[in-house]
Amino acid sequence: MTSSKKPVMELLRRNSSKRQFLELKLHAAIEEELFYPAVRQPAGDDLINEADEEHHVIKLLIAELEKMDSSADHYDAKFTVLGENVRHHIREEENDIFPKAKSMDKDWEAWGKRCNSASRNCLPTVCRPRRKKLAT
Ligand SMILES: [Fe+2]
Repeated sequence: MTSSKKPVMELLRRNSSKRQFLELKLHAAIEEELFYPAVRQPAGDDLINEADEEHHVIKLLIAELEKMDSSADHYDAKFTVLGENVRHHIREEENDIFPKAKSMDKDWEAWGKRCNSASRNCLPTVCRPRRKKLAT
């Protein structure tokens, strides 16, 4: 890559990462608020607790990446580990949780619409860092 293109490529990469981070945080928020409580009974506490912990690790990695300069020494390595964690998480959801969810007598189409609506409402919260409560 020529040196003149490097800043542009870096900007594209950084913006792409921000979008990916936002989508991952939104995914986690929707599942934690709506999906996991709905499927906890048929899937069982062990599976859902593990999925919660996987979200926790993913959110920690994202928080660390968001504080780093994308040219930092370990940025790429941390980003790779994030991707590995996400792939592992998705594989477990698809193989272990979704089949149990499908066995439920639930209108998943209506649930999907509710999630889409929640995601639109949730987006500003996910985008903005939580404000600290003022001391009273
Ligand atoms: Fe998830």
